[in-house]
Amino acid sequence: MKKCIAFHSYKGGTGKSTISANISVLLVKRGYNVLLLDMDVYAPTLQTYFSQEPTYWINNFLFNTAEFENVIYDLTRLIRNYPTSQDPQQKLGKLFVSFSNSSKEEITKLDGTLRQDASKLELLRKFIMIKEDMAYQNDIDYIIIDTSPGIRFWSINSLAIADLILLSLKMDSIDIEGTKKMASEIYSAFTKLGTKSVLLFNRAAGYCLPPNLIQETSYAPEANYANVLTEQSTITDRLKKDVDMEIIGNIPCYCDIQFDNKEFLTVLKHPYHPFTHLLNNLVDKIDKM
Ligand SMILES: Nc1ncnc2c1ncn2[C@@H]1O[C@H](COP(=O)(O)OP(=O)(O)O)[C@@H](O)[C@H]1O
Ligand SMILES: [Mg+2]
Repeated sequence: MKKCIAFHSYKGGTGKSTISANISVLLVKRGYNVLLLDMDVYAPTLQTYFSQEPTYWINNFLFNTAEFENVIYDLTRLIRNYPTSQDPQQKLGKLFVSFSNSSKEEITKLDGTLRQDASKLELLRKFIMIKEDMAYQNDIDYIIIDTSPGIRFWSINSLAIADLILLSLKMDSIDIEGTKKMASEIYSAFTKLGTKSVLLFNRAAGYCLPPNLIQETSYAPEANYANVLTEQSTITDRLKKDVDMEIIGNIPCYCDIQFDNKEFLTVLKHPYHPFTHLLNNLVDKIDKM
């Protein structure tokens, strides 16, 4: 296995689910086998990106009511059969996704704060097995974990098994203060153990993208948001200094993504969208780390 990556943030709505789902697809398109885990167990949303109605959930594996093979869904065909997939012969990796059950009973059952120490340890043991045993048995190259925002039982567990923590944030003061706090109180403990953590700005100061540009293959997104980057550079410089973390990317807020009434996989739906271009840059960097 190459890497286990956790997407985390202080607040919700910073793009963890959107980016983890889209990055997983891009990695599969590069030939990697990916296991995408929905560990935002308190408010899972990954189902919507893949339009799935699972029978088994990651909850079943954690509580020993299903084998791992039953709780992972091979969704590679969604990528292969997508109408914009240019080359049906392209050598894809495999995409496995495990979803989290959003029913109130299941969330309560899983919530660490309500559990006895012994059963918490058993849950944790099963969770670690996913990285240590299951990923190897299924020849997984990348585990991508979509986590809950803030400091909660399952987000801490996810950060603990990650090799790389991608902390996403939006540009507003609460997020920045919260992020600084998490970096100093939580991430520093993991980085001492060798985990790498980096910052990813998402939904940075926005603008609407005219639909005709989305179709434009030669569109150069960097040139068009250079002014946005300049405006935000003061904040990013300050944050970089305060939290001592590398900034791995800066993704603007695109109105067509934000205001669509259904979540979708932008990298499949709009292969020439600047969002897709920026996520490909992100994958280049992740892959080299
Ligand atoms: N770069 C972006 N531009 C516009 N909308 C975005 C962007 N990234 C995410 N979104 C939208 O923001 C909302 C919150 O994103 P989501 O991935 O659910 O955040 P989180 O998982 O961190 O709570 C979603 O509706 C998503 O489509
Ligand atoms: Mg989410």
